[in-house]
Amino acid sequence: METEPQQELREIVGQVRGYLERQRELGLDRGELSWPASPAAAAARPTLEQVRADLGECTRCKLHRHRTRIVFGVGNPKAALVFVGEAPGADEDAQGEPFVGRAGQLLTKIIEAMGMRREDVYICNIIKCRPPNNRMPEADEIVACQPFLLEQLRAIGPRFICALGGPAAQTLLQTREPISRLRGRFYDFHGIPLLPTFHPAFLLRNPNEKKTVWEDMKLLLRHMRQA
Ligand code: URA
Repeated sequence: METEPQQELREIVGQVRGYLERQRELGLDRGELSWPASPAAAAARPTLEQVRADLGECTRCKLHRHRTRIVFGVGNPKAALVFVGEAPGADEDAQGEPFVGRAGQLLTKIIEAMGMRREDVYICNIIKCRPPNNRMPEADEIVACQPFLLEQLRAIGPRFICALGGPAAQTLLQTREPISRLRGRFYDFHGIPLLPTFHPAFLLRNPNEKKTVWEDMKLLLRHMRQA
């Protein structure tokens, strides 16, 4: 007869095994992102509709149990600029659209201050379902969603990507560096310049940092105008 701690341990071992298997299946155990290397594969770019259809009524991770709607992404399917955030919150889960709550309203203001409209850019998150109580996305959830995020970015083929906050920047750049160290400069994401900056929700709690994000957005605009 198993004791309670033994049972707990067996469950944890099972979860870790499942996570490692999934990583192996996705080729992420080698620390690689599945981005097509050959020109032929790159030519066979999916459409956003195909990526959404592939995602289906996803049950690949535990978040499907709590969600109201999958929050895939919104905006111009041919956008030059894609903003990638962390995860849907309560408002996004209810409406099925990313960045529609308070942080989203601030992001919309930032986009408009850059001289664009929300419809001009594309907005999505690293994970497509709301974590319960708005907790941070967990590694297995990020791994399960990652192929769809990458295909989504391949489908759009943006000229620039802006990663909003630590989890988005760390996922796309495959690093553990904190956002305070990553932000404010460009990184190469499979040939696409990627600029990390602070998340709008962080700005709501730390309004003094709005000027920092504005400096980052001015840098982004300078590069977009030159490119
Ligand atoms: N925060 C995010 O990272 N994404 C959203 O869609 C909403 C809030």
